Amino acid sequence: MKTGLAFFLAVSLGGFAAEALQCYVCAGSDSNTQCNQNTQNCTGSDDTCMTAVAHIVGIQSITKSCTTRMTCSAATSTNINFVVGGNTVSCCMTDLCNVNGFAVTRLNALLLAFPAALLLLGLGGS
Ligand SMILES: *[C@@H]1O[C@H](CO)[C@@H](O)[C@H](O)[C@H]1NC(C)=O
Repeated sequence: MKTGLAFFLAVSLGGFAAEALQCYVCAGSDSNTQCNQNTQNCTGSDDTCMTAVAHIVGIQSITKSCTTRMTCSAATSTNINFVVGGNTVSCCMTDLCNVNGFAVTRLNALLLAFPAALLLLGLGGS
């Protein structure tokens, strides 16, 4: 209860004191470098930077945006990760904190996906 109140106060005061939150924004970039070329000053009640990385057999799609804490934490509940594909959402609340792609790098995804694909082919063919 006490910590909850303290947290609430800290967040509210922080919200008044801070300039607009800045986040990297992009839609469906296939590399983190490309994604990080645009920043945006979040407006209204957007207090959270969201990063969503979807990947399917080594192809990734990165989307970053300003959003609200509630929307972002709801989105994290859809996180799913299989070897051959998945979706990872992360939330953070400081300026340009969503700089990292953070997910499986393309190389790692390929290294992971390749044996899995072989396995699937092998199972399918028998
Ligand atoms: C965001 O705000 C900062 C500081 O007010 C400003 O320097 C910057 O150009 C703005 N960025 C965008 C993308 O509007």
